[in-house]
Amino acid sequence: MAYSVQDLKDRLGKFSRLDLADLPTPLDRCPRLSGELGGPMVWVKREDQTGLAMGGNKAREFEYSVAPAVDEDYDVLLHGAASQSNQSRFTAAVAAKLGKRCVIVGRKDEHAEPIQGNLMLTHLFGADVRLSSSAEERDRTIADLKDEGLKVYNTSSDGYYLRTVSYVDGFIELWGQLQANDVKPDGIYVCSGVHTHTGLVVGAKALRVDVRIVGVSPSPHPNNEKNAQLSEVANEVCKMMDLQLTFTADDFETRGDYAGDGYGVPTEGGIEAVNLCAKLEGLLLDPVYSGKAFSGMVDHIRSGEWKSGQNLVFVHTGGTPALFAYAGEI
Ligand SMILES: Cc1ncc(COP(=O)(O)O)c(C=O)c1O
Repeated sequence: MAYSVQDLKDRLGKFSRLDLADLPTPLDRCPRLSGELGGPMVWVKREDQTGLAMGGNKAREFEYSVAPAVDEDYDVLLHGAASQSNQSRFTAAVAAKLGKRCVIVGRKDEHAEPIQGNLMLTHLFGADVRLSSSAEERDRTIADLKDEGLKVYNTSSDGYYLRTVSYVDGFIELWGQLQANDVKPDGIYVCSGVHTHTGLVVGAKALRVDVRIVGVSPSPHPNNEKNAQLSEVANEVCKMMDLQLTFTADDFETRGDYAGDGYGVPTEGGIEAVNLCAKLEGLLLDPVYSGKAFSGMVDHIRSGEWKSGQNLVFVHTGGTPALFAYAGEI
């Protein structure tokens, strides 16, 4: 079943939505980088330029996924992850913008001190930051907030599928920009957590766009397991949007092999990618997410999977404030 852009927009229009991001984000050509790599033309979809809180994919996602917290009058936006979490930064910024309380129950890990990058900004946005090395302590904080009678909206689990819905919208935007530039992309690369990657794949299949979409992950994983996981998310999103489409693991291409030793641990390829983009295009990546994803694309270009005359799009999901916390490694 194929859907038109207008049909998808009508379906997206039925969801409640906040106004958080500067959209559309730019689509930039990278001629110097493309020349250096000696392969296809690389285009960058600037989801790092969504405006709010130094930008990133969460601004687009939260337009949909945090809307229920407003509609249902939640008191607290909560998030817990690594100390340098981009999502914690966005949770704090969006809470500030909405006039809600924000509590961050992140991990006291090796990038928690000195207070820098995302963590510094999370504090600056006025969040109540309670980092801890114990999962029990973090769970207790959440339970205590609920015991106080507060309605707590966890931006990781609440509105989960709506985050993917937002990137169906993101695909429509990207596709329109490519058509306006008369570019038929041969491949799209994106940092694969869950939502951006899955939303792009759903958008492409709904519009019957035949393009290889490669999701390069920030942490190692068996590719087949992750492909199956993303296909389940895609099927759920189709139910929510009433799309007559079915996804299987074969609809996804994830790569866990550019993540190195683990989440948050920089790789040689990722650091090289950060340097290449900065020095050739004045473009900032980060060592945790976009740098690793970019390194996967660079490796595929160098190994001959892509040729000159072709066009690749890198969807830059942001994360750049982490650069400051990883200054030593970079
Ligand atoms: C910079 C960056 N890129 C990609 C991702 C993956 O996000 P998602 O699963 O929402 O697509 C994240 C998640 O935190 C992120 O911070």
